[in-house]
Amino acid sequence: MIYVTGDCHSEFEKLSSDRFPEGKHLTKDDYVIICGDFGGIWWNSMDYVQRKTEDYWIRWLDKKPFTTLFVDGNHENHTRLAAYPVEQWHGGRVHRIADSVLHLMRGEIFELCGKRIFAFGGASSHDISDGILDGSAPDWRRQAWLMELRGQVMYRVKGVSWWEEELPDEEELQNGLDNLAKYNNCVDYIISHCASDSVQAMISGDYASDRLTQYFEHLRNTVQYDAWYFGHYHDDCDITEKDILLYHEIRAINSGK
Ligand SMILES: [Fe+2]
Repeated sequence: MIYVTGDCHSEFEKLSSDRFPEGKHLTKDDYVIICGDFGGIWWNSMDYVQRKTEDYWIRWLDKKPFTTLFVDGNHENHTRLAAYPVEQWHGGRVHRIADSVLHLMRGEIFELCGKRIFAFGGASSHDISDGILDGSAPDWRRQAWLMELRGQVMYRVKGVSWWEEELPDEEELQNGLDNLAKYNNCVDYIISHCASDSVQAMISGDYASDRLTQYFEHLRNTVQYDAWYFGHYHDDCDITEKDILLYHEIRAINSGK
């Protein structure tokens, strides 16, 4: 079985036995895929409490009967994520966070439970309207404090709580196109964090187009897929029959409502 769910932001209680009882009957050959904003690899200079908390939750996930997979969102520590060793797994490249916790890298195609899955993480942050501070500046904490005094709380700090790698580079975009071409642009499922331009516009007019939503729009028009699951917009809603926004819901893949 493959289940899909939305953003976790380092809070994984929705995968507990109480809230996801189906999980108790799964095996490591069953998968729960998180559509970005995993958040389990987040802190930069970890103090003792942060490290213990993060280690606890990764071990907690690893001990679950199923295998946890995720694409990256905008709220990940992309520097730390990229430092994990890369390996080939079920046809595509992953970062292995723990034995059964894996990051599906951008533009890779995986064969799972007889299904072909195209994974592509990343998204633009929407919570930076007050700006991005430079985390390498010696006084960034003071600048942040002054901003908060002024009521400017929609800011993030580069290298601390925001990473420019939230959007893909040309190599990652091309990697996705090359891998899709190997399968004649035909997959069973697509997993991403944000949606394509047209699907995003159906959710709200508030979200700006960027090079990733434009790329996804190209894929939406050229790739054959049964269902596309994504997160990012913090809601549970079938935007179309095939384009499905997930947040709290944990849905068996292509099971419908
Ligand atoms: Fe999120």
